[in-house]
Amino acid sequence: MRESQLEPLRVLWVDDDAELTGGLVDYLAGEGYAVDCVHDLAAAARALEQASYDLVLVDLDLPDGSGFSLIRDTPRERAREFVVITGHGSVRTAVEALRHQVFDYLMKPVELAELCNLLARVGHARSVAAAGGGADPASGGGTSGTAAPAGTHASELLPGASAGMRQVQQLLSRAAGTDITVLLQGESGTGKEIAANCLHQLSNRRGGPFVAFNCGAVSPSLIASELFGHEKGSFTGALRTHKGIFERAEGGTLFLDEITEMPVDLQSSLLRVLETGTVTRVGGDRELPVNVRIVAATNREPMQYVEEGRFRLDLYYRLQVFPVALPPLRERPEDIDLLAAYFLAHFDSRPNSGTAEARSFSPAALECLRRHDWPGNVRELRNVVERACLLGGAKIEPEHLLLPERAVTTSAVSPDAPDAAAAAAKPGGGSLLRDAEQELILQTLNACGGNKTRAAAQLGISLKTLYNKLKRFESRDAGGAKDAGAAGAS
Ligand SMILES: Nc1ncnc2c1ncn2[C@@H]1O[C@H](COP(=O)(O)OP(=O)(O)OP(=O)(O)O)[C@@H](O)[C@H]1O
Ligand SMILES: [Mg+2]
Repeated sequence: MRESQLEPLRVLWVDDDAELTGGLVDYLAGEGYAVDCVHDLAAAARALEQASYDLVLVDLDLPDGSGFSLIRDTPRERAREFVVITGHGSVRTAVEALRHQVFDYLMKPVELAELCNLLARVGHARSVAAAGGGADPASGGGTSGTAAPAGTHASELLPGASAGMRQVQQLLSRAAGTDITVLLQGESGTGKEIAANCLHQLSNRRGGPFVAFNCGAVSPSLIASELFGHEKGSFTGALRTHKGIFERAEGGTLFLDEITEMPVDLQSSLLRVLETGTVTRVGGDRELPVNVRIVAATNREPMQYVEEGRFRLDLYYRLQVFPVALPPLRERPEDIDLLAAYFLAHFDSRPNSGTAEARSFSPAALECLRRHDWPGNVRELRNVVERACLLGGAKIEPEHLLLPERAVTTSAVSPDAPDAAAAAAKPGGGSLLRDAEQELILQTLNACGGNKTRAAAQLGISLKTLYNKLKRFESRDAGGAKDAGAAGAS
């Protein structure tokens, strides 16, 4: 799960507990991470003046003050992510840490596996950002070892007031009381990972690790060893025994993302693990018992994959014991205001967000948000709000949202949305934008050799949305030809 193409993760560890850091820092350096270790705030500030870091691990009780002041005072470009490591965890400090948008919050003693898992996640978040996915501090981390305060409700962890989301919250709360396997389905950006994390936080496993594993992002040759671990010497390069994801999630929740992308031959191994509750490391012969709750997710239609022979039916049945479908944002417009306000508060409370007063959306901006059809779902909304925070002042106006509909109308991008009055207001602009969208989509599709999955990924929309749009273009072209014909005849 470690990045290899990018330069090593740069880590600054600020902790006066030399006993804790000593061995771990050496180990991490041996693993190829660039780790600097300092023991107080003053030294940390100096280090951050001289260099920037991908991750700052910070203790809260430092000889010259609280770690929170470092988080508050460090410009974001100097430290991509902060992780709090404390020996005196409390609900108050956990909440404070959340308010500071830390990536994760760990309790001492910190286990090596936990630390490796954390670094892998930070590395993943960095590579996602480098690939243009945008920094996503709140969702980038799981929350291994972070206990949600008792009594936390699903609606706090997974905000949403629509009937659809209330049902999701109820289902998750119900599943949380058991170890039942849950399958989350929903378009890209609807919140599957955050739902998985919510389930973990609501469950008795909340004190254990939450480990996310993307079955589509690991090369097929490595996936077995990543999932199940390997024994030293089991293949060239297996220099030491390696614990797999299942073992690292011991006592917690394992989130298997993009489950339908798992190679078929591994699907039977996975099924065996689910059925026997044991894993066997690659090159090993011992069956190691594992105590892990599985949450799987997909943004595809699994039955279609089954029909195509790419997904095993028996695994599908085993996983879909408790399916939970996350509705696309366009099907729950009631959530738009709420989520927009939620993200605004989130990005606004960041240090260095640029303004002192609390921001708000102008009525016109809210109207634009409500009209957009959100092909990228909640992720898109989050990105739009983050960008608006950079572009706008105390009042966020439509021009800060950079939504295509702003210049024209919703009906331009969603021709099937009934908005005749608005369309009539700007007849020409609508078709211009519409043409541009169609052009972009068809060009991308062309560049991807007709591969819709790749085109959708490149466009940042779900495959389903791409299909819908292509269907629209088809019917539009048919309609357009008719119009042209009528005009010519008259
Ligand atoms: N209900 C919600 N409340 C707050 N934030 C949300 C909600 N749903 C999604 N998000 C945010 O939207 C972004 C996308 O969510 P997430 O990564 O969970 O989506 P996903 O369904 O896993 O998408 P993909 O299929 O592309 O992996 C994240 O930043 C997440 O924090
Ligand atoms: Mg996801």
